[in-house]
Amino acid sequence: MCGIIGYIGPRTAVPFLLEGLRRMEYRGYDSAGVAVNEGNELVLVKRKGPVEITAAAVIDKELKGTCGIAHTRWATHGKPNQRNAHPHADCSGQIAVVHNGMLANYKAIKEDLERRGHRFRSDTDTEVISHLVEQFRSDGDSLVTAVQKTALLIRESAFAFAVIDSTAPDEIVAARLGSDLFIGLANGGLFVASDTRAFRAHTDKYVYVKDGHVAVIRRDASHQVLTFENEEVLHAVEDLWYELGEIEKGKHPTFMHKEIHEQGEVIRRVLEGRFTEQYAIHIGGIARRPEFQHYITTQLRRVLILGCGTSKFAGLAIARYFEEFGYPSEVIDAAEFATSYRHVTPETLVVPISQSGTTADVLEAMERLLKDSAVTFSLVNVPGSTLSLYGNGVYTRAGLETAVASTKAYTAQILSGCLLTLAIARSAGRVTALDVQEFGEAARRLTEAAEAILKRGPSYEALGSSLAKISRMVFLGRGYTLAAAHEGALKMLEVAYISALEKSAAEMKHGPLALVDKRTVVIAMCLPDPKVPLTYDRTIDNVGQILSRGGRVIAIAEEGDERIAELEYSGTRLERIIRVPATIGPFSAITAVLPLQLLAHGAAAALGRNIDQPRHLAKSVTVK
Ligand code: G6P
Repeated sequence: MCGIIGYIGPRTAVPFLLEGLRRMEYRGYDSAGVAVNEGNELVLVKRKGPVEITAAAVIDKELKGTCGIAHTRWATHGKPNQRNAHPHADCSGQIAVVHNGMLANYKAIKEDLERRGHRFRSDTDTEVISHLVEQFRSDGDSLVTAVQKTALLIRESAFAFAVIDSTAPDEIVAARLGSDLFIGLANGGLFVASDTRAFRAHTDKYVYVKDGHVAVIRRDASHQVLTFENEEVLHAVEDLWYELGEIEKGKHPTFMHKEIHEQGEVIRRVLEGRFTEQYAIHIGGIARRPEFQHYITTQLRRVLILGCGTSKFAGLAIARYFEEFGYPSEVIDAAEFATSYRHVTPETLVVPISQSGTTADVLEAMERLLKDSAVTFSLVNVPGSTLSLYGNGVYTRAGLETAVASTKAYTAQILSGCLLTLAIARSAGRVTALDVQEFGEAARRLTEAAEAILKRGPSYEALGSSLAKISRMVFLGRGYTLAAAHEGALKMLEVAYISALEKSAAEMKHGPLALVDKRTVVIAMCLPDPKVPLTYDRTIDNVGQILSRGGRVIAIAEEGDERIAELEYSGTRLERIIRVPATIGPFSAITAVLPLQLLAHGAAAALGRNIDQPRHLAKSVTVK
């Protein structure tokens, strides 16, 4: 949510800043702005709307300064307009600040600063940072000390912010508490940013700035990490884990399209090195931790999965898989957890799931769980992200995901969650070598199945575009495919803005049947769960109830399923059958979702939506 970048070095700052903003635009795109030190004065340019609008205004100004900061915003405090866009200056215009996160006690600080004569120009919480730094600077502090004192004053909040000061032209100072911050070390200058993508085109060398630390980057190419209390911090310079190509669209029309089509490869990557010769599952976070293995065999009785959005829906399939092996399991939205009465006892393993590893609600839940000494095992995609640093877990290996609407992360999460389930059940003696072998074979067939489905992508996109004028859609699943129903509906409403409801097919007759008419299309997932044959039979009954009322139904069914082709009630037949290869129960949550992702993409493209950056949304939601 929001992206910040700063550059200092021998070159003109603007091209680096604008490129950084474009790379981070997936994080927020309500408004954007740039501040550059032009000799002895700061020039601020900000505009409402996407980065390109600000970029055009910045280019017009022909700024030549070699030190600057920039921001792309997803509004929290104050409307998304030019006035509230970052950077925010102090009273004199000598200091400028870009900020990510939310300041808890900003109103009290603002009132205090106003009493001291500071004049505020925006409705944002961020502006208090500029005035606090100004206040400390006017008391005689260096820029670094002023930032440290400011950070200490707002330490009840979550933030990453960067500051420039026209009277300290040779440095940029940034601080972090609970929101990502990195230093990028390139030959042609130094960067600070909330996302390494912002500087990936210029370097793969970076420093992870931790909570409670201040980063200083200087014109002479030196950098420093200090605590808020001004102690020097020893830190490692690391290599970034992804290639530049991963953050580019290549031949695809959108990042979402690219990421959907990467799923065959993602499945292959998730499975790599996971099966041992003894038909056990290898997960480093378990193998390296004998105390966790001991916990599995002695204490673990039930599972609680936490996540938001797509990650939560992947959790639905994983929970059901845990239940296959006798672990009662439940999924709670991480945001709901904060306000729940839930007390987690040691017999419950908590599995937080997050693509970004920075979702504020997940992190908040995690902090509470750690305080309560709960046992956790995270599924997280982004290496080095905050969640990944909180104890035990496994990386889901989806690779970088840029489109706001998550696609490949879901597939990687389900597969990784199944591997975790099986690893646990095998350690606990609840599954045999044969079970693992069968799972391994099904998982390998899943790669081919995914690739076969994706090859038919253009026809699903065409179907999606033919549905673009539909007023609403209902996605029905049952058992494992309930996860796909949730996810299919989410994709459709996120990128196409078509009203989409998800339901268990079982619930249809308890209300949603009332929606059935010619303007409503029902997408019914009619895939079997080989272990619970009733799943399929009952879904077919539910579809029959819709057809009998003249409803429009598109079914997702297994290749070779003859029964579904025969369905006819009161003269109404299925409108279309999307065929997917047969698989085991948990993987039907993946095979069912692939055509749905393409359907949503096709509908959104036909409607001319901004697919990678849907209105009002952002990729990593770092506010609660
Ligand atoms: C936002 C994104 C979704 C994502 C959700 C959870 O809503 O737009 O795509 O599923 O956050 O994010 P996480 O990174 O925790 O999986």
